[in-house]
Amino acid sequence: MIRTASKPVSKRLRLSLQIALATTFVSLSTGCVGTANRGAELAPVASAEAQESNEAGSTVQALVNLGPRVAGTPTAEQASQYLIDEYRKAGYQTQVQTFTYSKFRDEGSTITVDGTPLEGQALNGTIAGKATTPLVAVPNVGRPADFANLPVNGRIAIVQRGEIPFTQKAENAAKAGAVGLIIVNTEGGTLRGTLTGKPTIPVVALSRDQGNPLRDRAQAMPTTVSLVVNAEERTITGRNVIAYLDGVTQPTVLIGGHFDSVAGSPGANDNASGTAVTLDLARRMAKTPLARQAWFVAFDGEEDGLKGSRAFVEAAQPQFLSGLKAMLNFDMVGVNQQLQIGGSSSLTAIAQPKASIPKSVVNGSSDHAAFAAKNVPVLFFYRGSDANYHTPNDKTVDPKLLNETSQTAMDIVQQILKVD
Ligand code: BES
Ligand code: ZN
Repeated sequence: MIRTASKPVSKRLRLSLQIALATTFVSLSTGCVGTANRGAELAPVASAEAQESNEAGSTVQALVNLGPRVAGTPTAEQASQYLIDEYRKAGYQTQVQTFTYSKFRDEGSTITVDGTPLEGQALNGTIAGKATTPLVAVPNVGRPADFANLPVNGRIAIVQRGEIPFTQKAENAAKAGAVGLIIVNTEGGTLRGTLTGKPTIPVVALSRDQGNPLRDRAQAMPTTVSLVVNAEERTITGRNVIAYLDGVTQPTVLIGGHFDSVAGSPGANDNASGTAVTLDLARRMAKTPLARQAWFVAFDGEEDGLKGSRAFVEAAQPQFLSGLKAMLNFDMVGVNQQLQIGGSSSLTAIAQPKASIPKSVVNGSSDHAAFAAKNVPVLFFYRGSDANYHTPNDKTVDPKLLNETSQTAMDIVQQILKVD
């Protein structure tokens, strides 16, 4: 298998995807040799037609077989290489756009009282740290006045969630001299909060069921706790795989979907399904003149907050983006009968007869949002909620639904490009 040619594109080179194509995006050399048939697990099929219709299913299977494709991991890189190979076999040139971002990881944070560990949840962005001190129950939510006249200096404080941002609670606690802060949830379940600034003390959350008794106890009698916050900020390198026919520098449609998945989930529906439909469209279009109007992108880092699609639009020149009549995003299209298509009204009008058009789409939830934010007309193809979403059970899709999605999208692309 060829691995040598996918030279990454520097994030700094943001001249334009258009100019960049000629100058800074480095083309992969041609001549991809046959690689191991990673879709071989699927049952053999009889006719040529049937064989074709199994291709998207094989793509999902191949991606799922790799394991969870968490951005920045070797598995995600293997997935990107698999996609490069497949696009090249379909006759496309490929580029890898690399980009970096920082990602917080909680590596286990605990609060121990009398030798019994409670399960803490480090707030996103907290510094790591450990301390063993008496615990000070601070009334209310941790406003500056709540700390007045309390012996917080050099000690760990415990406050309630709510009313003011987590960061402010932490800054107020640090100002009062606290060396750590515990925030107790006011709702059932785990509190997964994010700090916006960088407070100087470790901050950890406790569930209501564990936190309230601890606070009551600290109020009633001297209580010593050991706080351990194990967390780190890592720099992740993501990889968008971009495919286009030789010489196509200004597409009119950009078709994509994210190939990364969350930790612990094989991401069959979310989103090997959309990755496979994107590749399937590239294969179908390769046989038609439509291919000269399209770029195909497998986005990375979506699960970390649309990082890949944002990096793409940031690297693109305004003219490249304004030359796009449509960005089509496929996310979770492998389960549920009813295809749904959301997005810009000019385009959903075209898609109308072919799918259910929801009144409102949560725009922030997938890669089309990055394009919509740059005024590119978007269509978002999805099939609604999935019980296996972000779980280890997201491991199968219905190949028929992939083909239906791709056929519908093909019809829509044809219409978009017809209307001028
Ligand atoms: N695939 C989901 C978005 C989605 C949900 C599409 C339901 C279709 C139906 C996506 O990967 C995701 O999990 N998005 C996050 C937000 C993202 C910015 C991390 C979400 O929706 O919470
Ligand atoms: Zn997704």
